[in-house]
Amino acid sequence: MSEVTALILAAGKGTRMKSRLPKVLHKVCNKPMVERVLETAQAAGTKREVIIIGFGAEAVEDYFGNRVEFVMQKEQNGTGHAVQQAKELLGATKGTILVLCGDTPLVKEDTLKALLLEHEATKASATVLTAHMPNPFGYGRIIRDAENRVVRIVEQKDGNEEELKVQEVNTGIYAFNSEKLWPCLTHLSSDNAQGELYLTDVIGILVNAGDTVSAYMTTDYDETLGVNSRVQLAEAEAILRRRTNKKLLEEGVTIINPEHTYVDPEVVVGRDTILRPGTILEGKTVIGEGCDIGPDTRFVDVTVGNDCIVHFTYAHECEIKDGVDVGPYVHLRPNTVLGEHVHVGNFVEVKNSNVGMGTKFPHLSYIGDSDIGSGVNIGCGTITVNYDGKKKHRTTIGNGAFVGCNSNLVAPVSVGNYSYVGAGSTITKDVPDKALAVGRSKQIIKENWVTDDTFKKK
Ligand code: UD1
Ligand code: CA
Repeated sequence: MSEVTALILAAGKGTRMKSRLPKVLHKVCNKPMVERVLETAQAAGTKREVIIIGFGAEAVEDYFGNRVEFVMQKEQNGTGHAVQQAKELLGATKGTILVLCGDTPLVKEDTLKALLLEHEATKASATVLTAHMPNPFGYGRIIRDAENRVVRIVEQKDGNEEELKVQEVNTGIYAFNSEKLWPCLTHLSSDNAQGELYLTDVIGILVNAGDTVSAYMTTDYDETLGVNSRVQLAEAEAILRRRTNKKLLEEGVTIINPEHTYVDPEVVVGRDTILRPGTILEGKTVIGEGCDIGPDTRFVDVTVGNDCIVHFTYAHECEIKDGVDVGPYVHLRPNTVLGEHVHVGNFVEVKNSNVGMGTKFPHLSYIGDSDIGSGVNIGCGTITVNYDGKKKHRTTIGNGAFVGCNSNLVAPVSVGNYSYVGAGSTITKDVPDKALAVGRSKQIIKENWVTDDTFKKK
């Protein structure tokens, strides 16, 4: 197969989004649309990727850094004008130019591969990806002749009644023979309803010149949704979410209510894991087998082992090992590692801490900047006092230690192996192994404090 260069159009403002952010940086399932397009193109085998930027160019450049090449389109005079800008960079490129729009984030790898295969097989100068849409409003229409050959594309705003009845639409994705594409672009005219240079006109120009133009139609029109408004952004999100949940269901994950479960496509979930309503799994999250997650639980970049139970929890950038149970109402913050069979009960916050196997924080604790051994019991209301107003300090708790309820561990401090801290203590000095530390004022008893006079009215 000839070498493929991706050219992604992403210079438009996206007026209908009503946003300061360039349209293509709006996210679908937590990833900018243009990034989804780029990743899909790469998965389909592109060797080089160029993005046309214009409106909000700096934001798009900042987002990608040097992962791709950029071409600037200073004024946005249409999709044809956008491609013209890349002539200097790609004019001499051999092979196929795969043109994609930064605002069609749902297109699938297999569809792009099929488009490229069709393009090769028919030795076409251009192959357009089309879809049959029940409601084609807003899209360019594919006009075919009596022999069913594509002859041109007509935009919504330029079409006559007959043409607008056509339900086969242009998805905005095309494979071009590079040598054929660049000369054609000089023939574009802005004599149309929008006064723009349309890339779609290239199709008619090639046909008129006697070139072969092919079309490949996807069976799933959902994947070619172009996002021009927030309504369509929400539609794209819903389609991708359904696609992801369906895949998980097929792979052996139980989802109680797929309509109320939000999983990024990149997330991995093992078999026999149950996702309860209100579960939100984002970013680089990986969940093992046999877990019970949710309801109302959000993970961002979290790694979870097998057989864990996590409910009503927000966790980000942390790791939960096998057999852990967490919740309800728990906040696990970055750089926390919960060892195997750890138990974190209700209303507990853990931050930047390593927690050993089988350790328990059953209720109402703040554990920050701590290294905690295995088999430790942290009583209700325990707080690691990690901040002195300027710096954070660490707390170390040895294996098998027992920290009584409502204790303050004032860091930097360490509590030794198998030692005890009496309930209500404020610990400011290190506790040796196997010791008992009590740091609270002694209880005073005053006998007969209450007398008969106490109840007499004055
Ligand atoms: C375009 C197609 C239409 C197709 C639809 C599919 C044209 C003329 N029309 O219409 O046939 O059905 O996509 O979604 O091509 N862009 C630039 N520079 C510009 C203008 C646009 O880079 O000057 C980029 C936009 O950022 C966007 C893409 O090109 O990513 C498509 O532009 P948009 O204005 O959304 O075109 P549509 O009206 O949707
Ligand atoms: Ca569009």
